Amino acid sequence: MTQPSPNTWSGKTAIVTGAASGIGAATAELLARKGMKVMLSDIQPVQLAAAATGLLAQGLQVAHCACDVSDADSVKTLADFTEATFGNIHLAFNNAGIAMHGVPMHEMPLGDWRWVSEVNMNSIIHSIHHILPRMLHHGDPAFFLNTASIGGLQVNPAWMTGAYSMTKYAVVAMSEGLENELKSTAVRVAVLCPSAVSTNLSDAHTRPERLGGATDRPQQGFLREAIMRTGATPSYVARRIWQAMEDGEFYILTDAAAQPVIEARHRRIEAAVSRAAAFREQHSN
Ligand SMILES: NC(=O)c1ccc[n+]([C@@H]2O[C@H](COP(=O)([O-])OP(=O)(O)OC[C@H]3O[C@@H](n4cnc5c(N)ncnc54)[C@H](O)[C@@H]3O)[C@@H](O)[C@H]2O)c1
Repeated sequence: MTQPSPNTWSGKTAIVTGAASGIGAATAELLARKGMKVMLSDIQPVQLAAAATGLLAQGLQVAHCACDVSDADSVKTLADFTEATFGNIHLAFNNAGIAMHGVPMHEMPLGDWRWVSEVNMNSIIHSIHHILPRMLHHGDPAFFLNTASIGGLQVNPAWMTGAYSMTKYAVVAMSEGLENELKSTAVRVAVLCPSAVSTNLSDAHTRPERLGGATDRPQQGFLREAIMRTGATPSYVARRIWQAMEDGEFYILTDAAAQPVIEARHRRIEAAVSRAAAFREQHSN
C-alpha cells in the first residue's frame, strides 16, 4: 500500500504521549511545525498545560489532554477527546515511559515491577486496543510509532536494566507483530529505539497512588548523570524521527553506541542456532 509523502501529514492529526517533557515534547513541537494538529498528552497536567501553551503561543495547532497511559480507560478518553477536537487520528506516537535502571531485579519491589510494566508495556497494548482500530476504520494513511529503547534490542551489562529492557523488548515484539499484521493496510508501524537522550527520564515521581505512589530510588542518580553527560538532545531525536518517517524506516535508532553489545548478542544467538543444528543432526526425536 502506498504511504504518504511527508508533506501529506500537514493538516492531519497526531497524538503524542509523554508530551510534557523530553522526546515527546520535542516531537510534538516538530509535528506541529510540520503542520499537524497535535494532541499533547501526559500524566503531569501542569507541565503538560505549559508545553501546550508554549506551542499555542507560537500559533501552532495543538491541544492537550491529561492521560495516564497505564490506565486503559484513560487512553480511550484521550482517543475520544482527540477525535472530538481534531477529527480522525492519523499518527499515534506512543512514547510515554519511565526508567528502571540500576536496580538488581531481585531487589525490586513488586510495585516497581507493576509500574514499569504498566507504563512502558501496557500503554502500547492500550493504544493498540483503543487507537489503532480507529486508524484502520477511517482507512487514511496513518502512522503508529512506539517508543522502545536501545534497551529493547540488548540488555546493557553496565546499566542493570533487566526489568526496563523486559518492557522495551515487549514493545519491539509488539511493533514487529503489528508490522506483519498491518502490511495490507494503510497503517505503517515503526519502533523508536533511542540510545541516551538528555531528558527527565531519571525522575521517578509520576508513579500513581494505585501503583504505590511516588518513589525516589537512590539509583536514579546513576541514570541522570549518564544521560545528561552523553545524551543526544530531544530535538535531535525529533528530527531523527521525521527523517525516518520520510525514509520509511522500521527500527529507528539514534546512534551506533550499542553496536558492539547488539552484535555480541546476535553472535551468541547465531552460535546457539548452530549448536542446535549440530545436535539435531546427531539425534532423532
Ligand atoms: N532519555 C533516554 O535516554 C531514553 C532512551 C531510550 C528510550 N527512552 C524512552 O523515551 C520515552 C520518553 O522518555 P524521555 O526520555 O523523553 O523522558 P521524560 O521523562 O523527559 O518524558 C517522559 C514523559 O512521560 C510521562 N509519563 C510518565 N508516566 C506516564 C503515564 N503513566 N502516563 C502518561 N505519561 C506518563 C512523564 O510525565 C514525562 O513527561 C520513554 O518511553 C523512555 O523509556 C528514553
